[in-house]
Amino acid sequence: MISLKNLSKVYFKGKRNENLVLDQINLDIAPGELMAITGKSGAGKTTLLHMVAGLDRPSSGHIFYDQLDLTTLKEHELANFRASHVGIILQNFALLLNESVESNVTLPLLFQKGRKKKAMSVEEVLNICQIPGFEKRKVKELSGGEMQRVAIARALIARPDILIADEPTGSLDSVTSMSILELLKSLHDSGMTILMVTHDEEIASLCQRIIHIRDGKLMTGLPSES
Ligand SMILES: Nc1ncnc2c1ncn2[C@@H]1O[C@H](COP(=O)(O)OP(=O)(O)OP(=O)(O)O)[C@@H](O)[C@H]1O
Ligand SMILES: [Mg+2]
Repeated sequence: MISLKNLSKVYFKGKRNENLVLDQINLDIAPGELMAITGKSGAGKTTLLHMVAGLDRPSSGHIFYDQLDLTTLKEHELANFRASHVGIILQNFALLLNESVESNVTLPLLFQKGRKKKAMSVEEVLNICQIPGFEKRKVKELSGGEMQRVAIARALIARPDILIADEPTGSLDSVTSMSILELLKSLHDSGMTILMVTHDEEIASLCQRIIHIRDGKLMTGLPSES
């Protein structure tokens, strides 16, 4: 279970442009849940995701993974935690375009000192992501949908406990978006916990649970207006 307790994030604290992006948020994410986070641009979706992923720290409050409070970890402990527990798909893929699919997908394994879990093989993870045989292809020669599958493969290879995806269908057409959502749903069906940010309400409505961020607070369900 992942629990956010009274989590707040303030940028430029004490300055004239102080920006309270997240205000005392509480949220529980159960194992195996498929959750969508929505909200308009600038609402704090990426900020929230980065804190759950351990990429950024809250201004106050706590992030528990079972009994472990991420906010008590030192930087290198947090990096080790991420490497073995969190699969991250950043907004706009963040792939190395001039490298092969295989180099991109195996990148997280470079940060796996002394890990206990056995990573998936590249072949296995490309099969799961429905891009079999793509090992030697250059990323820059792939379509947007294929690039997104590479980003998902990279996030999965180290067998994380949770997959965190920032707008995984953001720059894709609606048919390709649906096929990526189908992939995420099949991962969910096999037991993966997935936290996904999307501004696409149709995509969100197909998830098990929807959380909407507005004025720094969380609301359940789709907004009546946004
Ligand atoms: N590193 C930062 N320093 C200062 N302000 C930041 C920083 N990152 C984000 N912000 C501000 O925090 C607010 C929330 O940003 P965030 O990126 O979380 O929004 P978002 O909901 O993901 O938006 P989008 O849908 O456009 O991706 C914005 O007002 C943004 O300007
Ligand atoms: Mg964002």
